[in-house]
Amino acid sequence: MSIIVALDAKSHDDAMAIAGQLDPELCRVKVGKELFTHEGSSIVKALHGEGFEVFLDLKFHDIPNTTAQAVCAAADMGVWMVNVHASGGRKMMETCVERLKAGNYNTQLIAVTVLTSMGREDLADIGLDVEPFEQVKRLAKLTKESGLDGVVCSAQEAKMLRETLGSEFALVTPGIRPEGSNADDQKRIVTPKQAMLDGSTHLVIGRPITQAENPNQMLKDILATL
Ligand code: C5P
Repeated sequence: MSIIVALDAKSHDDAMAIAGQLDPELCRVKVGKELFTHEGSSIVKALHGEGFEVFLDLKFHDIPNTTAQAVCAAADMGVWMVNVHASGGRKMMETCVERLKAGNYNTQLIAVTVLTSMGREDLADIGLDVEPFEQVKRLAKLTKESGLDGVVCSAQEAKMLRETLGSEFALVTPGIRPEGSNADDQKRIVTPKQAMLDGSTHLVIGRPITQAENPNQMLKDILATL
């Protein structure tokens, strides 16, 4: 079980100010689309310079060749983990896995199944007459068959996916809130301990840590509950 702190910052300085309060021995960090679009690869280099392993959360989704080249570009930067949309399909995911292997990269590749912001109606709008939960299961199976290392999923889905997909598959779960902390805009939240019991392997935690008075102490407190 490990913790990935979401560095949802707008600028290099903001991100490094948060990272500077964290011990890279105790957590990894996640860089998403906003921060990466502002700062580019320099933010990844700076975080590596401080000793952090980075999850580059750019959710690539394109034709197989383009996606695989983007994944390899992330691996070239030395990131620990990167992700794609499973809805890009089997060929897209398999091509990514093949290129990572061919390049001898160690970067972990995971996939997003259904965005948790999407409900049944949203899926119907894009032509999918299926419960989100069924679609998550289908795409997670496809991700595993395509040779990826895991999926991003809500903690509510973790239990079902752990049962369906076996033990050797990473389940990276956001929507985590320690007992007694603010839910912010998250609708369905789970405690770190519960997520772990349900089969999550990596907890993505943002504001409860980044906005704490003492982020590193909060990180230690959360680790102590696991
Ligand atoms: O601050 P908080 O702990 O809510 O941050 C959670 C992080 O996980 C954010 O970077 C958010 O974008 C991301 N995330 C999420 N729910 C998903 C996928 C990603 O909260 N389904």
